[in-house]
Formats: sequence, C-alpha cells, structure tokens
Amino acid sequence: MDRGAPRPDRGSRRGVSDTEPAPGEGPADFSPETYRREGLIERPGAEQSDHDGTGRVDLAFTLLDLGGQETARRSVRVPPGVSVFDAASWNGVAIDSTCGGHGTCRKCKVQVAPRNGVAAAITRHDVRTFSASEIDKGWRLACLVQATGDLGVTVPALTTRPKAATVGVGRQVILRPAIQKRYVELAEPSLQDQQTDLDRLLAAMDDLELTADLHALRRLPTVLRAADFKVTAVIVDTALVDVEPGDTTGSAYAIAFDLGTTTVVATLLDVTTGTPVAVTSMLNKQQPFGGDVISRISATMMDPDALGRLQTAAAATLAELAEQVCREAEVDPADVYEVAVAGNATMTALLLGIDPEPLGVAPFVMSTTLPPTVLASEIGLVLHPQARVALFPALGAYVGGDIVAGMLATGMDRDKRTRLFIDIGTNCEIVVSNGDTIVSTAAPAGPAFEGGAIRCGMRAADGAIEVVKIDPGADAPVELGVIGDVEARGLCGSGLVDAVSELVRHGVLDSSGRFVPDEQLAEMLPAIAPRLTRIGQERVFVLAGPVDEPDQAVVLSQRDVRELQFAKAAISTGWTLLLEQLGLKHDDVQQVLLAGSFGSYLSPSSAVRIGLVPTLPVLRIVSAGNVAGEGAKMALLSLRERAGAVTLCEEVAYVELSDRSDFNDRFVEQLAF
Ligand code: FES
Repeated sequence: MDRGAPRPDRGSRRGVSDTEPAPGEGPADFSPETYRREGLIERPGAEQSDHDGTGRVDLAFTLLDLGGQETARRSVRVPPGVSVFDAASWNGVAIDSTCGGHGTCRKCKVQVAPRNGVAAAITRHDVRTFSASEIDKGWRLACLVQATGDLGVTVPALTTRPKAATVGVGRQVILRPAIQKRYVELAEPSLQDQQTDLDRLLAAMDDLELTADLHALRRLPTVLRAADFKVTAVIVDTALVDVEPGDTTGSAYAIAFDLGTTTVVATLLDVTTGTPVAVTSMLNKQQPFGGDVISRISATMMDPDALGRLQTAAAATLAELAEQVCREAEVDPADVYEVAVAGNATMTALLLGIDPEPLGVAPFVMSTTLPPTVLASEIGLVLHPQARVALFPALGAYVGGDIVAGMLATGMDRDKRTRLFIDIGTNCEIVVSNGDTIVSTAAPAGPAFEGGAIRCGMRAADGAIEVVKIDPGADAPVELGVIGDVEARGLCGSGLVDAVSELVRHGVLDSSGRFVPDEQLAEMLPAIAPRLTRIGQERVFVLAGPVDEPDQAVVLSQRDVRELQFAKAAISTGWTLLLEQLGLKHDDVQQVLLAGSFGSYLSPSSAVRIGLVPTLPVLRIVSAGNVAGEGAKMALLSLRERAGAVTLCEEVAYVELSDRSDFNDRFVEQLAF
C-alpha cells in the first residue's frame, strides 16, 4: 500500500468528516466522531465503526468442522477496532482466505452474534457475498468486521487449501516453507540396478540438491523395504532429515516462538496449509533471576552456574509450551520438524548458552548477529529428532531478533509511508522508516510499563486496572476497566498510562507532572478532590478502594507519575532523535505501530496525551499485536521471508543514543506532559 492508495468509504458514515485535522494541529479531543483508528491494511468496502480505541472487547470464537459440528471454543480479548479476521489470526483461529484479509476473496465467511444487541455493520462486499437472510442471520466477511463490542463468532471449517497464508498484520505470504515432504514410489533394486538407496531416493527428487542427515541414512534401508519402496522424504531446507513409510505429506508442523523476557508465546503451525492450529503462552521460567535482561545478565556475572541455569530455564519454557500446543492440537511432537525463535539478543544468547555479559556492558557487543541453525534437541526440545531451530538475526545488542521479526511482520521495508514502530517494554525499541531509509534505536524505559517501581504496579493479570476513565460530572467519576472483571488489586502498564493521561486531562496533574494543591482541586473538581490524599508524606490519588484508608487502596502516587515521566521521556527522546536523523518532523509520521504485549493494549489517545507517541490523530496509531510471533510464523512459512529478515538487518541503521552529547538535554525537554 503506498501513499497514494485510494481510501474508499472512510468517514462516509453518519456525518463523520472525511478529513483528518491538518498535520501539526493535533487532535483537539479524542471523540470517535472526529477520529477513528485504522487497521494496518486498508480493506475496500470496510466501514469504520465508532470507538475511541480505549478499553477491550471480548470475542468468543466457536469453531465448526466440515459437518457443522462444534469442535472447539476460544475466547480472546483484543483492543477495539481490530478486525475479526486479524483477531482470529493472532489467536490461532484459522479463517478461510486467499486474499490475506484484503477484502477481495470473499472466503472469510463467519457468523457474527453481537452480545450488546447491535448487529455488525454490513459492507457492500457482504451484500454481494450473502443473501438477505444470511445477512440477517449475522453472516459477514470477517476481514471487514471491526470488533468494536463483544462478539460471538462462529467459524466454519476451512474449505480451501491455501497456497498462501495470512500472517503478520494482514500480510500474505506465499507458502514456501523450509519443511517439504515428497511422496515417492521407487523401483525396487535388482542385480541389474544396484543403485544405492540414497541415490535411488534422491534421483526421484532431482529438482532438489540435498544432503542427507545421518538419522535419515540410518532409517533409509529399513523404511524403504518395510514400505515397499513407497515412502515420504522429509526435507528441511536442503537437508534430508528423515524417510517415513507411505504417504505422510499431509502431516507437517512447525512451532513459532516469541521468546520474550517476560512472556513466551508458542504457535503450532500446520505448514501444509499455513494455518495456526494451537497457540499458548506462559511466563518465562527465567523470572526468578530478575524481570529484565540486565538483571539476568547480572546474574551470570555474579554466579558462574547461573548461565547454565538460565539456559535450562529458557529451554524448559519452550519445551513445556511445545508439549502444550502439540497436546492441544493432538499433533505428534515427532511431526514437528522445525522451530523459529524470535527473541531479544539476551534471550537468544541465554537460550543458546552463550555468555551474555558483553551485552550488558559498554560497548555492548554481541557474539554474533546471525545465530547458527541448531538442532531442537540441542536446546532440550523433544520434537522430531532432527528438527531444526531457526533463530532470528539481530541488529545489535538492544535491537534484537524480536524486533527484526516485528519489522518483517509489519513490512517496515516494504511500505512507502513514513512509519514509527515502537515496542514498549523495559527496553524500548524504536524504528523509523521514511519509505526509503530505516533507522532504529533502543531506549531504556525502565520497568514502569510492566508494573515495576510502581507503588501498586502489577502485571496485566486478573485484578489489574487496565483502563481508567475520569468524568468528574458522572455519578461514578472514576470508571475502571479491571482484567478478569474482579476487584481491583493493582495497576498494570496500560492502566498507569490511562490514569496519568486522565489526571493530566482534568488538570489534577500539571504539565510538570505534579499533583495540583489540594485546595485548588477542591475548587476545580470537588467530586474527585477527596481522592487526592496522602500515604505518609507522599501524595497519592485513590483509583479503587477506600479513600479514607489509602494504604488499603489501589493508588497512583506522585513517585509513580515521576517513573512514568522518565519512561516516556526516554522513549520520546528516542523517536524524536530518529525522526531528526531522517530530517522528519512529528507530523510527517503517517502511522505509529505499537507493538509488543504492552504496546498493543495501550490506549492510543492516552499515549498521545502523555507524549509517549507523536501528537497525531488516533486514527494513525495502531495496535500491532504480537508482531515478533507473527514474524516467527512468517519465517516458518516462507523461506523468502526468512531471507528478508537477514536483508533487513543489512538495511537498517542502528543509532546509539547514549553517546550523543545532547541526549540529556533532549531527555529533560521531553519530561513535561
Ligand atoms: S475477503 Fe479475503 S479474507 Fe476477507
């Protein structure tokens, strides 16, 4: 999609303006009537629905088999505005498609039942695809339905065998996995034909140049004869890894891992169709060594045994997830022939048992940016004995394979627009592309976004406040969204950003980040003034719980606000300097991609208000989902995309911020709200 791509339908409904505010003006407010968020790809015929990009929506998928019988259910929570097709794809629910979610193939038929009674909008493509009664029954094209409220979605079984798969954020890749299976029927040897078993097999696949693994050679004589010379050759890239009796071409799997410092996600892929068949995640078992990469590197520096234990913990995490996804999909682990891992430089080094110490001290040097392919068994995974592990290449010590995977998934090197990619975490990675040149950097944001160093901070788990809205005129002036719909126990990153943003918006915090004096608030906003109180000497704002016993409540403290200010200043200094490097101004940015588990759940309007992202219409700020995992899937489904990741590393320039003499001054400039 390029800058000049047409934008049919946008803003044509219910009096919504066709025009965005002029660049630089910034949004006066964040009303959905004025601004809407866009998907990562534009879909002809897609109606834009009302939502302001805050909160979450629940989607309950019911999967059917070819006979229409229910086979599984899956519930997911996504930011509003994500298409049903993307939400399904990110969560391992396969929906028919040959256009990759672009609204043109009309295969992504689903039945949508809104839980709030408001039927999903009908697009002109729905009208062309379905009968009037089907539309009445809720049938829609999944890629054109924006999830703006809770939905039940019934997904029919796949009917097409795709030649391409939809991965990443609406990107389609032609299926050309490293795993290939070839069924061959060979002539039996005779005294007149004493060709070796291997030559006989390779001759039947003479379009390939293969080397044989010892494992395959050991099995070859027995399997050939037991199966009357009718066998399936299993190939990974250029290696013959196995021979299997009979025709097993329909069964080939791979696992994509997003190896995060905090959370690890595994997606089991059927590489014959390109579809995900199971997804699961868990906390990285390295957690006891510390929550961030620096504490894990420090652990290896202080204890000679720690490296081995960290390697074992990483391997155990992947092994448990692999076992879970195979069990869930009823797939024999021996049918998993390849694995891709997208992780930051420290996670990758620790998984391989490589000393990470040089990553943690200046001048921050990696052992290699291009890790070798290893056998899964070498890192403790029990899959096919010859299964390979493809590890993503990295740009540098602090822009690792996870970010390269994210760039691949979001097509940073293919899109002509000026785009800003931000993966927010303890270490925040930032990438800017002007359509020709791509630059990247890393900013140390600290643990605030993950609930660390925050008085009532916690991870995004049940009981965490994730959404905060303040309306001093309402009966309940502070409205909270709590994960799991249970009593609030703490504040996670997106709730922290929302809380500060709302308090800035209503003048409870001034632009320097200080709570205003009590008397001033009592005069300005009497309905919420009692919530601004103290625990000891520290001023706190009570979000949930007893106002008169703030130490029993969930509060936002003055120090929490400072922590967030430091984090956001580190990040905004990073993207400001990258934009300057390319001669760009803030309002030249045409799309901001918020990646990673935290970034994807951040309210775009809050992110704009506190200055975490440039002041742009919310329309241009997009939740990109787990792009590292999507990149890992792409690498498994397409050798071309895998090669593209290596090319990306050659094209993207890394900018080191810490050696810039003006960094501190620029950082201080960015502290204010
Ligand atoms: S029309 Fe092709 S995926 Fe929706």
